[in-house]
Amino acid sequence: VYPKAIEWHDGKLSIIDQTLLPGSYKTIELTSLADVEEAIKSLKVRGAPAIGIAAAYGAYVAFKHLPGNDIETFKKEAREILKSLNATRPTAVNLSWALSQIEEILNTGKDHLTILKNTLDMAKHIHDEDRESCRNIGLNGAPLIKNNSNILTHCNTGALATGGMGTALALVYHAMEEKKNIHVYVDETRPLLQGSRLTAWELTQSGIAATLIADNMAAWLMGQGKIDLIIVGADRIAGNGDAANKIGTYSLAVNAKYHHIPFYVAAPTSTFDLEIMSGAEIVIEERDAEEVKHFGGCQSAPKEINAYNPAFDVTPADLITAIITEKKIIWNKEFNKINC
Ligand code: MRU
Repeated sequence: VYPKAIEWHDGKLSIIDQTLLPGSYKTIELTSLADVEEAIKSLKVRGAPAIGIAAAYGAYVAFKHLPGNDIETFKKEAREILKSLNATRPTAVNLSWALSQIEEILNTGKDHLTILKNTLDMAKHIHDEDRESCRNIGLNGAPLIKNNSNILTHCNTGALATGGMGTALALVYHAMEEKKNIHVYVDETRPLLQGSRLTAWELTQSGIAATLIADNMAAWLMGQGKIDLIIVGADRIAGNGDAANKIGTYSLAVNAKYHHIPFYVAAPTSTFDLEIMSGAEIVIEERDAEEVKHFGGCQSAPKEINAYNPAFDVTPADLITAIITEKKIIWNKEFNKINC
């Protein structure tokens, strides 16, 4: 049983407040556009697929507050809501992917009650489909994990980041279900510690053998022969296979190449952006510099120091051994003909 990052139950949208983990496990209800946007921006709900799912339900929650007497006014205000939701975080394409499906409902809808019903149905469908994708990513990638493997992962790509059992972590969960003997090294993932706060929490909850390391230890462990493979997630994958993911992923890939360690990206096809042909076109979110000047909520640098905080980086395709999707494994030599 995996934690449910997002739940729709009894007509209510609730999420686990991930900013409080691992200290406290608390679910909160999101009842307005402002609630949903704040939750996405502050990373109460985070991870590319989960952001898309939360925004889709969020669109319904917000549409419900609109007056429906004039359909054109309703549609105009609904489109403003989609635009505003889409602006909450720029890098994960799953957000605009999910919202574009809601926009399609607006474009073809004739009356406001049908639009509301179809919007909720679509949000549930996106949620269900992601749950299914996670399982199939795990299934497709399972043969890549041999018995007695030491796996390195970065950020959080598990149940907390998706509508199901995760992307990169789905491979780990599958290996566990297949009773393989595996061990996971978890990168802490500065500055916001998604690795130590969330992945370490998920893995200990599931009883998977795991060891936490600070990000700057990864290359040394590779050099010591302690890592057999690396699996990470992605927030946006360009048509040539370049993949944006949590800052620090690129250094792992460079180090993996040097040490001849396979480097895998696991992501649903909803994370592909085939409208761009290279990672150079991916917008990298820059977050508040205060996040770098704090560690676990405590100030860890002089107030006056400048800090820079890009939240993602782009790993060039030639450093990626393969991308594991819910449909199949795409090996590096096939990256020039990606077609989802
Ligand atoms: O800033 P976050 O926590 O939303 O970043 C999440 C990641 O970078 C994940 O690796 C990515 O979204 C893939 S999650 C299945």
